Amino acid sequence: MPCKVVVGGFWGDEGKGKIISYLALRDKIDIGVRGGVGPNAGHTVEFEGHTYKLRMLPSTFINEKSKALIGAGVLVNPKIFLEEVETTGCGKRAGLDPNCAIIEDKHIEKDKKSSYLSKKIGTTGSGTGPCNVDRVRRRVKTAKDVPELKEFLVDVAFEVNKALDEDKNVLIEGTQGTFLSLYHGTYPYCTSKDVTASSICADVGVGPTRVDEVLVVFKAYVTRVGEGPLPGELPKEEAEKRGWLEVATVTGRVRRAASFNIDLARRAVMLNSATQIAITKLDVLYPECRGVRRFADLPDEAKNFLRNIENSVGVPITLIGTGPEIYDIIDLEATGRISPVKKPK
Ligand code: IMP
Ligand code: MG
Repeated sequence: MPCKVVVGGFWGDEGKGKIISYLALRDKIDIGVRGGVGPNAGHTVEFEGHTYKLRMLPSTFINEKSKALIGAGVLVNPKIFLEEVETTGCGKRAGLDPNCAIIEDKHIEKDKKSSYLSKKIGTTGSGTGPCNVDRVRRRVKTAKDVPELKEFLVDVAFEVNKALDEDKNVLIEGTQGTFLSLYHGTYPYCTSKDVTASSICADVGVGPTRVDEVLVVFKAYVTRVGEGPLPGELPKEEAEKRGWLEVATVTGRVRRAASFNIDLARRAVMLNSATQIAITKLDVLYPECRGVRRFADLPDEAKNFLRNIENSVGVPITLIGTGPEIYDIIDLEATGRISPVKKPK
């Protein structure tokens, strides 16, 4: 499929980095391009013994033949971008749009010093909200104003659309998760932009008719960092007992946890017009699943858990994560569907 968009289905931290990096290799993509908010995201990629924590570059970078681009809608922290170009060894494969807005120290300060943002909302403190405010006020610096970024400037919308004209494979990477959307999320406990598939495409400069597949990623349980509602939230001790206590990539905060939520999953599928879904961290729910690569080798309990999700949301599960490494995965797109999809009632 030439144009695939991957987004988060809950409150971020669904394991998009792992799914996206796997697809970058499997689909032999030509371009991986990031939409989304900015360096408030933290995507983890484990590949060949290395763990990469990415906040700016797309997780697709591990495919050395692909370009790793950042769309105009994304807010860029130049220091983090340049560090990641260095640590990933991307060099000139990396690029960003001249219209990307620039996060400056004053934005980070405002984010961290505002008790409304840092305490009531519980932001990541990466400056993204205040930077988007300045962007809307038409007072923000853009990437073309920053000399250190000059060599990386690329007309991203043009590059991506040209690649699609030539039938090349493009993967568009979303960040955060559906219920952190400024429009469709748990307002005001949300991020500073819409982050559903439509906006992720707009960030990059691709219109809806060019998109072939929308993959929504769900974790096998739900987590959220920061404030705001989390239906069915477990007490911290219970989450810990179940092994669901995670530590956030960007802020080091402990994530709140709840069981998989079918109603939210159904709504996320609707809001993103999903054509497929991925379920990650199945091995955290069922340790016997660790590293399993064939659906047939899963215990019955895990199979039923997955079938129930698929039948309830009415969209096929195509990928199942069974461990942190990118090849700890069951790929049902490659090996056939797990069950016929029934329409939800
Ligand atoms: P901000 O995006 O830093 O303004 O934070 C607003 C809310 O979104 C807070 O609850 C953050 O914890 C949450 N958030 C932002 N980005 C991410 C992410 O990538 N993963 C998980 N939560 C996020
Ligand atoms: Mg994250």
